[in-house]
Amino acid sequence: MTLASRSMAEARGAGTVVQGEFPFTNEDFTRIAALLYETSGISLPDTKATLVYSRLAKRLRILGIGSFREYYALVASPDGVDERNNMLRALTTNVTRFFREPHHFDHVLQNVIEPAIDSVRKGARLRIWSAGCSTGQEPYSLALTILSALPEAPNHDVKILATDIDTNVLATGRAACYAEDLVEAIPTAVRSRWMERDPEDSRGWRMGEAARSLVSFRELNLMTEWPMKGQFQAIFCRNVVIYFDEPTQERIFTRFGERLIKGGRLYVGHSERVGVPGFETDGLTSYRFVGGR
Ligand SMILES: C[S@@+](CC[C@H](N)C(=O)[O-])C[C@H]1O[C@@H](n2cnc3c(N)ncnc32)[C@H](O)[C@@H]1O
Repeated sequence: MTLASRSMAEARGAGTVVQGEFPFTNEDFTRIAALLYETSGISLPDTKATLVYSRLAKRLRILGIGSFREYYALVASPDGVDERNNMLRALTTNVTRFFREPHHFDHVLQNVIEPAIDSVRKGARLRIWSAGCSTGQEPYSLALTILSALPEAPNHDVKILATDIDTNVLATGRAACYAEDLVEAIPTAVRSRWMERDPEDSRGWRMGEAARSLVSFRELNLMTEWPMKGQFQAIFCRNVVIYFDEPTQERIFTRFGERLIKGGRLYVGHSERVGVPGFETDGLTSYRFVGGR
C-alpha cells in the first residue's frame, strides 16, 4: 500500500466524506445537516456533502477556524446565532426575478385582485403574503400588479406582507434598488410610471413610493410560530419549500390553509405540488383553498 492510499484508507475509516483543506467527516455533515433541518426545515441529502463542504469552508477561512468540529460547536451554541444565519445563507439560494412565472401574476390579477377591487374601494382589506420573498422581486411584482388594476391602492387597506428567514435579503428588499438588468422583465410603461431612477446609481432603478408603501418586509422563519393575526386572499410561497422534506412541506401547506380565506389562492413554484386536504388545483401550480375542516 502506498503512503497516499494508506492515508486515504485511514481517512475513509474515520468517515471522511470530503478530502480537502479541512477534515470533513460523516459526523460533521450529519450534525450540520441536522442543525439546518431543525432551524430552517431545509433537508440536505447525503449527495450535498461536497456542496456543504465547499460553501462552508469559505466561512471557516473567514473566521480563522481550523476544523468543522469547531465550526459546529460555534453554530450550535447560543452565541452562534449570527454565524448560524451566515451558514443558512451559505447553504440556501436567494435566486429570484421580477415577474418570475408570469402566469401567476395574470392569475392573481384575474382571480384575486380584480374581483376584490369594488369592495376594497368601499373599505375592505386586501392582503397578500409573499412567504420566502428573498430580495423583494416577488412582492414588488405583486405591488406592480395591484397598482396596474388599482392605481390608488396606497389610499386603501391593501398590504403585501413579505417575509424571509434571511435578514440580508430583507434589507435589499427594503432598500428597493435594483440594477438595470434585473428590471428588464418589468414592462417599460410600468417602470416609467411606478419606478424611479436609483438616487445612488443613475443606471439602476428604485421602486417608487406607491409600490414601496404597499409592501412590509418582516423576518420570519416558516418553521416557527407566525405572529400575523389576519387572513390572506393569496399566499405566494414559491421555490422555498422545495428544500424541505415532504412532511415539513405538508405541515407548512396545511398552515397556509389556516391563514387563507375560503376561496383564497396559494401559488407554489413550478416544480412543487400541494397535496394536502383543503386545496384544489386551480391553474398551473396555483391552488384554491376550499376549506374542508
Ligand atoms: C429561491 S428563493 C425564492 C424567492 C421567491 N419566492 C421566488 O420564487 O422568486 C428562497 C427563499 O426562501 C428563504 N427561506 C429558506 N428557508 C426558509 C424558512 N425556513 N423560512 C423562511 N424563509 C426561508 C430563503 O432565505 C430564500 O430567500
